Amino acid sequence: MSNIGSYDERVNNFNWDIAEKELDFKPGNMINIGWYCSDRICRMGKSGKTALIWEGSAGNEKRYTYDDLRLNSNTIGHFLRSLGIMPGERVCLFMDKIPELYIGFLGILKMGAIAQPLFSAFGDESLFVRLDNAQTTAIITQKKHAPKVRKIMDKMPYLKHMIIVDADPGKPLPEREVAFDMERAEKIDRFELHPTYAETASVLHYTSGTTGQPKGVKHVHYSLISQYLTAKWVLDLQESDIYWCTADPGWVTGTSYGIMGAFSNGVTQCVLDAGFSADNWYRFIEKHKVSMWYSAPTAIRSLMKAGDEVIKKYDLSTLRHLASVGEPLNSEAVIWSEKVFGKPFLDTYWQTETGSIMITNFPGMKIKPGSMGKPFPGITATVIDAETFEPFAEPGKIGLIAIRPGWPSMMRTYWNNETTYQNKFRNGWYLPGDRSSIDKEGYFWFVGRDDDVINTGGHLVSPFEVESALLEHPAVAESAVVAKPDFVNMEVVKAFVTLKPGFTGSKDLDLDIMNFVRKKLSPLAMPQEIEFIDNLPKTRSGKIMRRILHAKEWGEEIGDTSTLEND
Ligand code: WTA
Repeated sequence: MSNIGSYDERVNNFNWDIAEKELDFKPGNMINIGWYCSDRICRMGKSGKTALIWEGSAGNEKRYTYDDLRLNSNTIGHFLRSLGIMPGERVCLFMDKIPELYIGFLGILKMGAIAQPLFSAFGDESLFVRLDNAQTTAIITQKKHAPKVRKIMDKMPYLKHMIIVDADPGKPLPEREVAFDMERAEKIDRFELHPTYAETASVLHYTSGTTGQPKGVKHVHYSLISQYLTAKWVLDLQESDIYWCTADPGWVTGTSYGIMGAFSNGVTQCVLDAGFSADNWYRFIEKHKVSMWYSAPTAIRSLMKAGDEVIKKYDLSTLRHLASVGEPLNSEAVIWSEKVFGKPFLDTYWQTETGSIMITNFPGMKIKPGSMGKPFPGITATVIDAETFEPFAEPGKIGLIAIRPGWPSMMRTYWNNETTYQNKFRNGWYLPGDRSSIDKEGYFWFVGRDDDVINTGGHLVSPFEVESALLEHPAVAESAVVAKPDFVNMEVVKAFVTLKPGFTGSKDLDLDIMNFVRKKLSPLAMPQEIEFIDNLPKTRSGKIMRRILHAKEWGEEIGDTSTLEND
C-alpha cells in the first residue's frame, strides 16, 4: 500500500495540518528543521537506525545512525556558535557530497543561521557573486576547494571565517581560516537550539534568471511541512526503504529531498560521492539494496545510452519505486524504465522557488508517459493565458503554469530583491516561468520555459552570466549565449562570439575561451560550442536578439524580425 492511498480522496480532504499533526507542530510553536531531521527521529525510538550510508569514489564507506546525525549536527552548531556566528547570518556550504555537507546543513539550522549551499564545481566568479549578494559570514569547505575561496577572499571583508573540514593536522592556516574535524571534535550531547519559528529563514539557494545576477531564494523553517509530506506521499518513503537521491545538495533537490524530506521521514538514505558511470550506478543499487530512487532525466538518458546489456550484470530487484525531476522526462525514458526495471520513473515538477514538488505523478495513479501528472493535494495549479492571465476555459491550450501562493515551502522573497520577487505574481497567481498545457483528465504536459534560461542536464544556467564571463576574455568583443539541443543533456550552452580586432577564430582560441569560462563559472556553464561570427543580430536599439540565434539552433521559424538592424 502506498503512503498516499487514493489521490482523489487526498485532494478532496486535504489540509496542511495533516503534516503539522504528524510532526506534532502547533502554529506559534518553535520549528527547527535540524531538530526534526535528527533529534525527533531519535525521540521516536530510532536513534540506532542508519540515517546515512556514504560511499566515496574509492568505494570507501561511512555510516551514520540518527543519533550520530544528532550528535554531529549539535557539534557543528556548537562550533559555529563558538566562532561568534550569529543567528540569521549566512553560512555557505561549499563541499562535494561528503557527510559534513549533509550534517553541516543540519548544524547550521540548529544554531539559527541560514544555510547557503553552493555547488562545489563553481569557479571563483560564480562563487563570488553569490557570496557577495548574501554577504556571507562563513564558508565551510574542503581543502581542495579552498584555493577558489582564497582567490576572492580580499574582495569579501564580510566573510569572517573559512572553515576547512579536512585540513592537514598541525599545519598553520592563514588568517580567517580555521580547521574543524567533525569525526574528532568532542561531541556535544546537549545543544541549546536557537529558537526558530515558522517564518525564521532557513535556506538560501541561488538560482539563475535570464537577466541580472543569480537570485537568492529565501526559504523558512516552516517549509519542512511541505518537504515532509511530499517526500512521504510522492517519493513514498517507508520505514524499510533504502533511499537514493542522486542530486547534489548544491541544488534544491539535494536539500529538499536529499536532506530535509528524507531525514524528517526517518528513512535510511545512501549517497554516492563519485562521477557518473552506468556500471557504478547499478553496482551501487545492488550493493546497498536501493528501493527508492530519485534521479533526473539526463542521468536516465545516459543510462539508456549505456544500453540494456550492462543492466543484466546486476541484481536490481530491490527497486520498488522510481521518480525523476529537473527537466522534461520524455516518454521514451518512462517506457524504457518500465521495460528494464519493471517500474516507470514518475515525473515530478517543481523548482527552487517552490521548495517542494508541485505537479507530479503518484504511486498508484494512471501514468501517461511524457506527462508531469497532476498537482499535489493542497496545490491549486493551472495554465493561464500569457496576455490576460486568466485560466483557459477548455483543455489542451498552451499557456503559463500558474500556482496559487500559500503552500508552506513557497519562497518568501529573493534576497535583497523584493521587486523581482513581486514580479513573479500576476492576477493572484505565482508564475514559475514555464509553459504547459492540461489535458481533459487534468494531466499537465510540459512545453518549455518562458525565458532564455538554459536547462543543461537539469541545471539552470543564465545566458547573462556566461555572456558576462565571455566579455572578460581578451579576444571577445561581443557575445550571445543560447541553448543548443543535445540528446543526453537536453540542452547545452552554445556561444556566438564576435572577436576584437587583431584576433581570428581558431581551434586553440575556441578551447582557450571554453576553459576560461569553465574556470570562472563552472563546467556546466562552459560553452560546448563556440561559433565565431562577424555580427550579432541586434534590434535597432542595439539589443542582441538571442531569439534569432536560438531559433536557428533548434531549426525553428525565426518569426518577426522587423526590428532587426542588420538583416
Ligand atoms: C525545469 C529543480 C520539465 C522547469 C527542482 C523549472 C522541469 C526548472 C521539471 C526548475 C519537469 C523542473 N519537467 N521541466 N519535471 N522539473 N523542470 O530551480 O523549467 O533547478 O522551472 O529546480 O526546471 O529548476 P530548479
